[in-house]
This record gives sequence, structure tokens and C-alpha cells, in this order.
Amino acid sequence: MTTSEHLDLVSPQSRATAYRTYAGLRAAGPISRVRMPTGQDVWMITGYQECVDVLGDYNRFKTSPTVVPEGVEMPSLPEAVLRLLGGSMGSIDPPEHTRQRRLVQAAFTPQYVERLRPAVQSIADRLLDDLIASGERTFDIVEGFAVPLPLTVMSEMLGIPSADRDRFRLWSELLLSLDPTSAQSAPQGMSPAEVMAEIEEFVRYLDALIQAKRANPGDDLISGMAVAEADGERMTDDELLKMVALLVVGGLGTTQHLIGNMLLALFRNPDQLALLREQPDIAASAVEEMLRYHGSIEISFPRFAAEDTEVAGTPISRGEMVIAVLAAADRDPARFPDPDRLDLRRTANRHLAFGRGAHMCLGAPLARVEGQVALNTLFARMPDLRPAGNLDDVAWRPGLTLRGVVDLPVTY
Ligand code: HEM
Repeated sequence: MTTSEHLDLVSPQSRATAYRTYAGLRAAGPISRVRMPTGQDVWMITGYQECVDVLGDYNRFKTSPTVVPEGVEMPSLPEAVLRLLGGSMGSIDPPEHTRQRRLVQAAFTPQYVERLRPAVQSIADRLLDDLIASGERTFDIVEGFAVPLPLTVMSEMLGIPSADRDRFRLWSELLLSLDPTSAQSAPQGMSPAEVMAEIEEFVRYLDALIQAKRANPGDDLISGMAVAEADGERMTDDELLKMVALLVVGGLGTTQHLIGNMLLALFRNPDQLALLREQPDIAASAVEEMLRYHGSIEISFPRFAAEDTEVAGTPISRGEMVIAVLAAADRDPARFPDPDRLDLRRTANRHLAFGRGAHMCLGAPLARVEGQVALNTLFARMPDLRPAGNLDDVAWRPGLTLRGVVDLPVTY
């Protein structure tokens, strides 16, 4: 066990060297005591097997902070944020978690999502048609493609009118900017009061949307979730609102950054890019490798020890916070041979980019399809796609939870 009170994990400069920092922690042992930007001391798990053990054991490690002993201070959240995400599926434990998850799981099975592939493909084609028609040969691939692809896919799934999609993007970004590990300023220089006003507007918008879908169900996911039943029970309006908010927060930035990270990884590894261009049918294994090598969620949601326990021999007291560092686990040499090498044909690649256990990413099958379609469509339509700037200068998003480049200029 190491104790690191002054690790810089959040400044913009530190983002570029985070994998090295985690390797240093892991070399000293799979569990470290680290002071978070919030001032809280947490246990960070950097070993692959130890992350699997913690994430897979929801009896010992809870997502809901109900096991935190009285008197221990937890960061408080504004009312509107609690209304949207407090007690959402991401922060509750079985058996309640299991019930909620069953109500939404059907729309995210690999089989169901596979049926959405043609729709994802046509969205990607339309975006590239527009980019090509614009005549601009140099553009930011994040803004031009990585943002609108998941935004359009998710909006069509949920049944969000196209006129409202930019507001959804803003609301999702604003909620992400409140991530306590991010110390991030709000987008577009908004003041904290303006951010809160927008978040309250998001609550009102979702309340009205849910009422409209209940009154006039359509062929969309919100309407479907409104009537789905598990054990004879349906979701309440409040649960439905939190579920939609969770999908919006969980499904946009993550996929956007996966696409950006994949392109950066390929541009930095020209031999692997050449391989993918020659063999586009390896896209599925390529996406898995890029999720391992450069996933877009760096750390798990916090877990809280439900009892006095231990990880790798280090004692952990009841209520203490434990974080699985997925990015570190996925580069653990005890699990992945030559882990810092990008190998699009890597086999035995059971990475943790989507987590593990009860909370394992609901949207993983969708993110995979979006990633595969993005890669194949980009390199088919723009075979000569290449970076337009210095790859050492990329700006990383601040914060520990989401890992991704802010922009990535390309040319073709
Ligand atoms: C590359 C893209 C994505 C990555 C890397 C990712 C990663 C993750 C991870 C690591 C978790 C588990 C966190 C934990 O256990 O602490 C998670 C949970 C979740 N993700 Fe994703 N995700 C991605 C895309 C998506 C998409 C597209 C959606 C929605 C359509 C989505 C919805 C969710 C939800 C709802 C949960 C909570 C599940 C639960 O608590 O049962 N994610 N995601």
C-alpha cells in the first residue's frame, strides 16, 4: 500500500501523463491511499484482479453511500441535480438496482442493439455527407463527428425532437461539469447561477416530456420504459426521469470521447492505422483494444465499504470510499502482456473499460456498435484521414472520470 497525498491527477498537464502516474502507483502495490481534488482521502485500486474483486462484490462494496458512518462529511449536491441523478440506477444497490435495471435492460442487449446498426450507419453517413459537402478539407473531428454521432443516435432512441438536441448536449455537459473530480469551469463561461438555471430547466423539460410520452406513447425508448414491467411494477415518473437523465449523462460524452481517443491512438500508431485500413473487418476487435488502451471512463463510480474488510491485505474500514481505476487495471502487466502496446488484433482482451459486476455499463453494446461504425465509415469515406495538428499538443478534458481529447483537428 502506498500513500500519496500530493498526486496531481487532475490538472490539464497531468492528464497526458496519467497512465504513467497509475503505473507508478500500481508498481508500489495494487491499492493506494490518495487525496482527491475534493480533499477526500480514498482508496484507489490500480490492479486488474483487485478491481474485478471490488466491482464484482456488491455485498462488501456498495454504490450507495448509506453505509457511510454518521459524522463523515459527503459532498452535497444542489436540489435539481439530486432530482435528476440522486438515487438513480448508477448509485443504488441490489435488489432495488436489479429491479430498475430489468426495466431498461431489454433495449440494450447486444441482439437488440444489433438491429439499430443500420440506423447508426445512416446517421454516420449523413454526418459525413454534410462534412464532405461543406468543402472544408480541415476540420475538428470531435465537433464535426464525435459529438453529433452519439447525440443523434441517443436522441432518436429516446424520441427527442431534433430542434431540442443541442440543449440536450448542453445539459449533459453541464451535469458532467459538476463531477467533483473535475474542477472544471462550466461550458461557454457560464456562471454557477446560470448553470443551475439550465439544470432546473432540464428537470422541467424532462417532466413535461415524460408526461407527453405517457399521454401519447410513441415508438421510442422513453415510451417503452414508461410501460415496461418487472415483478408487476412499472417505473414511477421520478424513476423514469432519473433513468433518462442517467442515459443522457452516461451515453454522450463517453462515446464522443471513445471516438476521439480511438482516432488519437490510431494516428499515434501508424502501423495499426495501416492495418485497420487494409482490414476493416477487424473493427470489432480494434474497438475492444482501444477501449482497453484508451477507454473514455478512467475511474469507476465510488464504492463504499459495507463492513471492515481488506483488499490485497490492506485493511479498509466500514464507510471508506474505494475507487477502481479502470484505466490502470487495463494496463496491468499481470493481466495484459505488453500492456502499453496498441495491438488491434489482441486476443484474451477482457478489459474493464465498461466496468464489471452489477453496474457494468448498460450501454456497452450500443457504444461498441457506434465505435465500429464510426471507424469503418470514417476511413471508408475519407481514406486519407490524418491529423492536421501536432499530436503532442492535444488538450485533454479536465477531471478524472471522463478521459478524452477536447478537440482533434484532422484533414483528408
Ligand atoms: C465508450 C463508451 C462508454 C464507456 C467507456 C462507458 C463506461 C461505463 C462504466 C465504466 C460504467 C460502470 C461504472 C461503475 O461500475 O462504477 C458504466 C455504467 C453505465 N453506463 Fe456506460 N459507458 C459508455 C457508454 C454508454 C452508453 C452509450 C450508455 C447509454 C446508452 C451508457 C449508460 C450507462 C449506464 C446507464 C450505466 C449505469 C449502469 C448501472 O448502474 O447498472 N454508457 N458505463
